[in-house]
Amino acid sequence: MSPRAFVIGWPISHSRSPLIHHYWLEQLGLPGSYARVPVAPPDLATFLANIAVLGFAGGNVTLPHKEKAFAACAVTTPVAQRLKAVNTLWIEGGQLFGDNTDVAGFLASLDADVPDWDKSVDKAVVLGAGGAARGIVYALHSRGIRHIALVNRTRSRGEDLQRQFPEVEIDLADFAALPALLKDADLLVNTTSLGMVGQPPLDIDLAPLPAKAIVADIVYAPLETALLRQAAARGLRTSGGLGMLLYQAAPGFARWFGREPQVTPDLRARVAADIAGKS
Ligand SMILES: NC(=O)c1ccc[n+]([C@@H]2O[C@H](COP(=O)([O-])OP(=O)(O)OC[C@H]3O[C@@H](n4cnc5c(N)ncnc54)[C@H](OP(=O)(O)O)[C@@H]3O)[C@@H](O)[C@H]2O)c1
Repeated sequence: MSPRAFVIGWPISHSRSPLIHHYWLEQLGLPGSYARVPVAPPDLATFLANIAVLGFAGGNVTLPHKEKAFAACAVTTPVAQRLKAVNTLWIEGGQLFGDNTDVAGFLASLDADVPDWDKSVDKAVVLGAGGAARGIVYALHSRGIRHIALVNRTRSRGEDLQRQFPEVEIDLADFAALPALLKDADLLVNTTSLGMVGQPPLDIDLAPLPAKAIVADIVYAPLETALLRQAAARGLRTSGGLGMLLYQAAPGFARWFGREPQVTPDLRARVAADIAGKS
């Protein structure tokens, strides 16, 4: 039987993962399939316990299941253990394994868009303290970024994140402090859902950022957020969320289908066209 993989979430109809994985299957001439599977929170444990019975080699996990799926895994990678969340599952020796590839996905995307970015970044400002922010903070720390200012609407969520990463120097701040924080920031990363299609805008002024600063936004719908547009208009170097979406998908594909896929300009264009058509 050819390998089958899934993406589970609730809701899941918006997921672009099938488009990405079917593109790679076709390009590499491999048998296999990848399906969106809506799994409501009360059904998660049963689904995870029956992955092999259902004929799946593994799959991806998205909101709101990443933390509960982590807890259900028999074996997890060090990065998943650090984030206490998984986005990639597979069955090995009859056991459920889990990894978190968001960290590697974000770093691969930033490396591709702004080569050697980490050589010039000492101080980063991260907007948001949700699930995605955890991966970004961990990613920045893993590349030696020593100072992170974390700006979040709900302070208690920022404090939770701070507690989760005691080894990282994180200063919590309010949105009102941004103009002062941006003055000496080398990198700004938006990990909030602000600016995403259907969400309120992310209304911040990038004027205080130094000319050498980098602006990254992990929101990928729209492809060019207002934040990235403003940064580009100022001549700053930028990195959008589409790259992270594509790079985070690659390790799972290799596990389930047995070949390392490539993030090519053609794949980028196909997924971009799909996002542009629906946003
Ligand atoms: N490119 C990729 O591959 C990729 C991967 C993962 C996530 N993402 C994107 O990242 C974004 C966040 O995802 P997530 O999983 O971290 O979501 P999440 O856990 O729900 O966190 C949402 C974050 O946005 C903030 N926020 C939401 N509405 C706000 C508002 N009206 N004003 C101020 N802050 C607001 C929240 O602040 P509070 O704590 O105050 O509520 C929180 O920090 C989404 O747009 C998602 O699509 C992209």
